[in-house]
Amino acid sequence: MAQKVPPPGVGAEEYARRRRRAMEAIGDGVMILAAGTAPTYSNDTHYRFRPESNFFFLTGYPEEQAVAVLRPGADAPYTLFVRPRNEEAEIWTGRRFGPEGARREFGADAAFEIGELADKLPDLLDGATTLYYQPWAQRSLDRIVRGTLEALRGKERFGKIAADTLVRPGALLDEMRLIKSAADMEVLARACEISATGHLAGLAACRPGCMEFEIQAAIEHAFVRAGASGAGYPSIVGAGDSGCILHYIENNRQVAEGDLVLVDAGAEIGGFTGDITRTYPASGSFTAPQRRLYEIVLETLEQGIAMARPGQTIDGIHEASLKRLSEGLLELGLLDGSLDEVMEKESYKRYYMHRTSHWLGMDVHDVGRYRKDGACRPLREGMVFTIEPGLYVQPGDERAPEEFRGLAVRLEDDVLITADGCRNLTRRVPVEPDAVAALVGRTDS
Ligand code: GLY
Ligand code: MN
Ligand code: MN
Repeated sequence: MAQKVPPPGVGAEEYARRRRRAMEAIGDGVMILAAGTAPTYSNDTHYRFRPESNFFFLTGYPEEQAVAVLRPGADAPYTLFVRPRNEEAEIWTGRRFGPEGARREFGADAAFEIGELADKLPDLLDGATTLYYQPWAQRSLDRIVRGTLEALRGKERFGKIAADTLVRPGALLDEMRLIKSAADMEVLARACEISATGHLAGLAACRPGCMEFEIQAAIEHAFVRAGASGAGYPSIVGAGDSGCILHYIENNRQVAEGDLVLVDAGAEIGGFTGDITRTYPASGSFTAPQRRLYEIVLETLEQGIAMARPGQTIDGIHEASLKRLSEGLLELGLLDGSLDEVMEKESYKRYYMHRTSHWLGMDVHDVGRYRKDGACRPLREGMVFTIEPGLYVQPGDERAPEEFRGLAVRLEDDVLITADGCRNLTRRVPVEPDAVAALVGRTDS
């Protein structure tokens, strides 16, 4: 059988660099990370496996049931426990790296079959007073870790030392993941590029009469053709008032003449995902009320992008977005009263109920604290986040002028904070209404 090769990603050197940084922070502690197992889809059939993000961040190892142990200063500071090679199992469920591949391709100082974990763990944990480990994720591993700690504690009279402190690995890794390195950025920018390619394919596939899932399929086809492993989260393709359902993933209705189609889809590659939303006019042009709503959302997006720079905050961008959207809602007669009243009573929430931004990286809603020392933390170079204002007028909202009912618009770009501003990673998909409209149904682009 052909030799298995690692999937595309940041590359072995970057994983090694990340481990060195993590090891410095772990100090005289020890960290255990688990890849996890593929969840069941039905009976004995499973979803495609995706490793847990922290495990993947430090190892790049793509297979399930693997465990990494990082113990700075040990003879083998980086040990991987992995599924063994097995000719018969590999015929059924795919190629495996095995311990030899784990050493050869993934830089493990030592690698063993996963069945040896319980035997090897006592030596790896002995003497470390802090254990970085996330319990409750995998019961079988919890049992082994707990048994190991109890066994070490029972032998303290003989000089063994069991950890007193259990710390969530994210306490060390979240911040490393939040500030992107040059290698991270290369892959994340690629994920965003491929996400844009997907939207261009989605726009081309969109026409009245098509099914929402046809647009989804065109987008996800373009993702994998461009080298992605698939979608980084379930694609949202909501035509007409389905766009008012924020996490609509049924994608099973027909697109009607004159519909807006709200499409939120991002590609995943090397463990990183893009996250783009565009709102497509199915017939290739916007009606007047659609355009008015669209332009308010677009102005809010552009305002947010113009604000994104070091020192600004996510809350600052959100507050300014709320203000701009509220002004627009007043202009359109969707709300009444003064701007101050709307802001004070938060009456914009009828049409805009989510936040404007979230961190983006390996998880679509990526890790990292939003607040520090009681305040929203200032943005700094290397952070990546989304800006995604929207307006959603529920179809049954009798207080809204009829022409707006059932309309939904969201626009979402991904930005990287640079030394003096930001870089928009997703603008290869146009956002100006006429430019978007011109791409709908265009199979020659
Ligand atoms: N796609 C999920 C989000 O935009 O937050
Ligand atoms: Mn998002
Ligand atoms: Mn999104």
